[in-house]
Amino acid sequence: MNVCIVGTGYVGLTTAAVLAELGHQVYCVDQNHDKIEQLNRGYIPIYEPNLKEIIEKNRDRLTFTNGLDLGIKHASTVIICVGTPSLTDGRTDLTYIQSAIDHLALHIDSYKTIIIKSTVPPGTTEQLYIQLLEKGVPNHLFSIVANPEFLREGSAIFDMLHADKIVIGLRPDDQRSLPIMKSLYAGISCPYVITSLTGAEMIKYASNAFLATKISFINEMARICDAVGANIHDVAKGIGYDPRIGPHFLQAGLGYGGSCFPKDVKSLEQVAHSQKITPHLLQAVQLINDSQVDLYIQKLQQAVNHLSDQTIAVLGIAFKPNTDDTRHSPAEHLIRKLSEAGCIVRAYDPKAKLDSSHQPNVTQTDTLQEAVEGADILIIATDWQEFQQLNWREIKARMNGPIVLDARNCLRRQDIEQWGLQYIGVGCG
Ligand code: UDX
Ligand code: UDX
Repeated sequence: MNVCIVGTGYVGLTTAAVLAELGHQVYCVDQNHDKIEQLNRGYIPIYEPNLKEIIEKNRDRLTFTNGLDLGIKHASTVIICVGTPSLTDGRTDLTYIQSAIDHLALHIDSYKTIIIKSTVPPGTTEQLYIQLLEKGVPNHLFSIVANPEFLREGSAIFDMLHADKIVIGLRPDDQRSLPIMKSLYAGISCPYVITSLTGAEMIKYASNAFLATKISFINEMARICDAVGANIHDVAKGIGYDPRIGPHFLQAGLGYGGSCFPKDVKSLEQVAHSQKITPHLLQAVQLINDSQVDLYIQKLQQAVNHLSDQTIAVLGIAFKPNTDDTRHSPAEHLIRKLSEAGCIVRAYDPKAKLDSSHQPNVTQTDTLQEAVEGADILIIATDWQEFQQLNWREIKARMNGPIVLDARNCLRRQDIEQWGLQYIGVGCG
């Protein structure tokens, strides 16, 4: 098939690469000229494992352009992956997706299947359908489909090729789109969930909200474990054996970040309020998550007399490992709080870059050793694999003080303490 992807960010570019790998001819459109220029030079503007390799392998099936008209002209299927960021009150900002739809309306002169992959509040895709009609596009010239993505950054290519489900939201009168969607994803074998437009939108929000709830649940359990002297690892392992609970997303730590969970949980909360529903659970999930960084600052304040005099090595800036994405990163939030407390912060991350707005007492080092050299405290803020395989005897020799704060509960206490370092985690008995 000839496919046009509008918006080549984390989701758009990954989707384009995988669809080219599946054999489709893919036209990637983005309004950001630098991004398209970089992609045409073979430079991939984001770090995502295997993305560069798959794009290079399928380069003859990928076209990168700023020209929406070019992309639309060639394609029978158009996938919208533009950003749907948050407004200040937590509702979703639909301006980008509405402007993408307005542009689209100008170029539809043959039948198009329009696929909404950006995460949008329930009811939005139907609104976009009406918007296209109002822009004069006759309804026999297009169908609109809600097809949310469930990709995790850091494993997006794998997640798409080995999807656990494909969710297809259709309008009641749409007889044409399902076979087209099945041809688009031919080569990916997994169950299809066929539902309404709003059903598909809600499956996306409910998925992210549930995963965020699991994380806030285990973080609350970890606080209780701290108080009663139990080990949260054992608790997570124990409850995880129950197939009704499952072992995944039970890792206590600094909380969830990224471009999806924070904004989608907030947006769903606003959807509930707009329907006169008080979302007690979603509010609690955010309350716990928003206070995780403070919990770790308190642990440090209990461990040292004056936090302000401390030089702190923070390992990890990205919101999670295997990505360079720092959007709503708990690690960056922690760095900002330590900076405000007057600490000297030296941060290191294998891929991510510190936000430029940090104070002069915050620097990013090129190597882990530079960050650790002479540090009074070392913090694991993002659970990159390489931080879990450190030579703690060498680290001890480089540090000035003994404290290792494991803010991702990814280290083993004995590996640290055997070298005379002081291990601080959460809910570690
Ligand atoms: C986006 C949405 O934000 C998210 O809600 C959804 O779940 C998946 O797609 P992501 O790919 O991470 O997430 O966004 P981002 O990396 O910001 O990429 C969006 C791209 O769209 C950017 O490259 C931007 O330049 C482009 N864009 C935005 C357009 O090409 N045209 C527009 O009108 C607006
Ligand atoms: C998430 C969803 O997993 C994905 O399906 C959806 O399409 C987009 O949003 P992503 O944001 O890439 O993906 O990250 P994810 O791996 O889900 O982690 C989200 C956050 O939760 C990260 O900050 C991570 O550190 C944190 N997390 C995850 C925990 O704190 N504990 C866990 O057990 C798991």
